[in-house]
Amino acid sequence: MSQSLPSTLLVIFGVSGDLSKRYLLPAMAEICRSSDIRAHLKILGVSRRDIAGEDILTEATADLASQFATLRMDYSRLEEFRKLKDYLKQHPCQQVIFYFAVPPDAAPAIVDNLGSSGLNGQTTKLLLEKPFGTSLDSAKDLITHTARHFSEDQVYRIDHYLAKAVAQNNSVFLSSNALFRQVWSNDFIEYIEIVVAEKLGLENRAHFYEQTGALRDIVQSHLLQLAALTLMETGLDPFELDDLPARRLAALKALSVAPNYEKTVMRGQYLGYKNDVGNPDSQTETFVALQLESSDRRWQGVPIYLATGKNLDQRLTQIRINFKKTSAAQANTLIMRIQPHEGIELDLWVKKPGYLKELEKKTLSFSFSQTFDRLPDAYEQVLVDAIRSDHSLFAGSGEVVESWRIIQPVLDYWHSGKTEMLSYEPGSSIEQILKNT
Ligand code: BG6
Repeated sequence: MSQSLPSTLLVIFGVSGDLSKRYLLPAMAEICRSSDIRAHLKILGVSRRDIAGEDILTEATADLASQFATLRMDYSRLEEFRKLKDYLKQHPCQQVIFYFAVPPDAAPAIVDNLGSSGLNGQTTKLLLEKPFGTSLDSAKDLITHTARHFSEDQVYRIDHYLAKAVAQNNSVFLSSNALFRQVWSNDFIEYIEIVVAEKLGLENRAHFYEQTGALRDIVQSHLLQLAALTLMETGLDPFELDDLPARRLAALKALSVAPNYEKTVMRGQYLGYKNDVGNPDSQTETFVALQLESSDRRWQGVPIYLATGKNLDQRLTQIRINFKKTSAAQANTLIMRIQPHEGIELDLWVKKPGYLKELEKKTLSFSFSQTFDRLPDAYEQVLVDAIRSDHSLFAGSGEVVESWRIIQPVLDYWHSGKTEMLSYEPGSSIEQILKNT
């Protein structure tokens, strides 16, 4: 893989933050251990504080020491970018990737400062983390702002769910399994359910979460992208993935939240949340369930149910395809389990051995982790793809706008104050919460 790789400098703004220490650097360390990218890669950790490599690298990332340097600069100030320019002059390489591990409100100033210092040439890339805006309008503003300095092909927006192993498999599943391609439509599918359930609560992110909520945090990005992967047109060649963003975008364009929101949308908050965020009046949802519909002829009449929540009974992300019953036959279901226990399950009906005429549901299942040595972490995948300029697993600006377009009416509806907020006990299951509606 590395033969054609350009020499790369990865500049991490906010290197001492949680995101960089918990996800990015461990992913870089693993990539360097398991591939020959190491020879092509240097990392520069930028921080406002005076820090050294030893303050940042841990036991798990110590291997990176020989290719890791730090730079102290205040990235909110234009004049400080001279230091970065000098560093780049002294350490020339074929491409520079700027990764923003900073709070969302710090990002626009960095983009401006990079642009104004001339650090936005064709050999530079931006690797951006969600959230991409907080509403449809702010997302459009952010995109316009970035486009003043960087062209769309320089921008890589991470939605790490797109890079999870089973989500990637979904992109090729229909092109490589003709059996399912034939039945992937409203002729055979009754409804689709997609869930991102989390056992975790707020994890030291009370301030961020209180301003965000489950709809913006998970539905706008991860859940809608999983829906797009499920509903998009099938590619002819499984690994002809250049048009993947365009296919996801077309699927998103056809989606909207089903009308009559009082029946098709519900929100909830776990008991104790107000205390956790120190706001007795909080109206932030930690659980959302909603029904989507698609105007695509192939999907008309197929409800797509999404659900997500924090502090639930289990961690589970999966896509469940519920096929129609045909005549006397029983319905089949196909599950793509994204995490944990990555795998695929197909429920089949079999005749129970014996003299009685009875059917029983049995499951054919396949486990990725039991079959393959190792499933690369999603962050490893996005870093490798950004280095080799592969945009297929990144969200394009059109996708970001469309997913905000889908959820903005729900945000407005909630804002009007007409809807109820359901309370649920921490540790509840999605089914228990929905039963109380
Ligand atoms: C992030 C959300 O995008 O995804 C978090 O901001 C959430 O709230 C996380 O916990 C879940 O990611 P994963 O990979 O642990 O399922």
